[in-house]
Amino acid sequence: MATERIVVIDFGAQYNQLIARRVREAGVYSELLPCTAPLERIRGGGLSGIILSGGPDSAYWDNARGCEAGVFTLGVPVLGICYGMQYIAAQFGGEVREAPVREFGKTAIRYAQHPLFAGITADSVWMTHNDSVTKVPEGFTAIASTDNCPVAAFACDEKRIYGIQFHAEVTHTPQGAKIFENFLSLCGCARSYSVEGLADKLIADVRAQVGSGRVIGALSGGVDSSVASVLVHRAIGDQLTCIFVDHGLLRENEAREVVGFYRDTLNLNLIAVDARERFLQKLAGVTEPERKRKIIGEEFIRVFEEEAKKLGGADYLLQGTIYPDVIESGSAGSAVIKSHHNVGGLPKDVGFKGLIEPLRMLFKDEVRALGEHLGIAHELVWRQPFPGPGLAVRVLGDITEEKLHILRRSDAILREEIQNAGLSEAIWQYFTVFTGIRSVGVMGDLRTYDYAIGVRAVTSTDAMTVEWAEIPYPVLRRISERIIAEVPHVNRVVYDITSKPPGTIEWE
Ligand code: XMP
Repeated sequence: MATERIVVIDFGAQYNQLIARRVREAGVYSELLPCTAPLERIRGGGLSGIILSGGPDSAYWDNARGCEAGVFTLGVPVLGICYGMQYIAAQFGGEVREAPVREFGKTAIRYAQHPLFAGITADSVWMTHNDSVTKVPEGFTAIASTDNCPVAAFACDEKRIYGIQFHAEVTHTPQGAKIFENFLSLCGCARSYSVEGLADKLIADVRAQVGSGRVIGALSGGVDSSVASVLVHRAIGDQLTCIFVDHGLLRENEAREVVGFYRDTLNLNLIAVDARERFLQKLAGVTEPERKRKIIGEEFIRVFEEEAKKLGGADYLLQGTIYPDVIESGSAGSAVIKSHHNVGGLPKDVGFKGLIEPLRMLFKDEVRALGEHLGIAHELVWRQPFPGPGLAVRVLGDITEEKLHILRRSDAILREEIQNAGLSEAIWQYFTVFTGIRSVGVMGDLRTYDYAIGVRAVTSTDAMTVEWAEIPYPVLRRISERIIAEVPHVNRVVYDITSKPPGTIEWE
């Protein structure tokens, strides 16, 4: 699909996915790979350039993160950002030291004449670093400076290796996008990747595969199944029927919003099944996490089969599988940590001719861009991932209506505050957990003995590994105050500061 490709090597900074996104916005397909990725995977097809990301390590540590040395000899330009730049300096015999004056935030900068900065008129950038390059490696020259950082950018034009100390990927760096465009020009990219072209191609593929057949799909309201459904609907119209199952474990207002949006706004052929009672009955008294997951998975399949039968069957089953799902399903033989239930677990033996998986090659980011292009509302496209078993895996122990109510209310408050703080797109997932723990507190001079709500918020690129999100204290404070004031029977809020591994994102 991609004739030009930029690989971003992930050295562990929180928002590295933004770099890949900026590159794609500038017209070249880009993907983020872990710094441990083998050279073969980096080289892939159509490699045009490499970006080394920021990260929390110091380049002079013995065990500092690194990547395959071969990235510098693949014959494509390399751009290092922050730690990425320091890493380059260390690799080529320069010197990196703790900066005498650290720089955090908006910082005035002076650029030398260099193609990397062509057409840039803005004179400030976003800095956040403890270390800096104190000696430029041989063959390199400094091409930007700030008052406290003499080497704010460097270049070795002969080797086509560049480094910037600041973060061009964040919107706080004015004209940061231009720097990526300039880098892509240095890579010789034609910059022809566009979401329009991608959508047209995927739609044509679906038409060719399905012909006049009928397609059925489960719509969860999540990003992937939504984008897949809208795309296929664009391709084959009412030959597609979607089934949405409300299992009673959705977030506040979710069922109403999802059904309203897809049926009324996008005119999808949608069957909404109210199966709340059925699921909650089956789950009554069940406390064991795996048992809960199994019950929900099985019940989901049963409901889906019943509805499919009512429709008189279909030729194809639509699935919203995306590329990370494909990678994960390749790891057969690994231990079962959790039985994941999602649309991927639907019955394949109900007589379908085949599967339709239009998003199979795409990363979440692209799925989102595609969704926006297809006219799906921004809020929906940027929804955080939500597990198939829903709130069942966020209520520890047995599930009751009262616990679900407490969880829904606290979760709605958290989501509102994260939204207000402008963090919703920077954090991969954020939700509350009904811990089931009761503890003593004091409210209005009286003793309370009520529930503790857990707050979970993580950053990630693929949900395989995550860091807990560094939500600013004032935002955390407001979340806690509001949950305790507004949600009955909650007197304590705790913040989960566990990364994955060793934790998982969901508590069950
Ligand atoms: P864990 O908790 O395993 O979650 O770190 C990784 C990601 O998967 C989501 N998740 C699920 N998604 N069906 C799904 O479709 C499931 O059964 C399921 N369980 C967890 C979780 O929200 C996170 O994004």
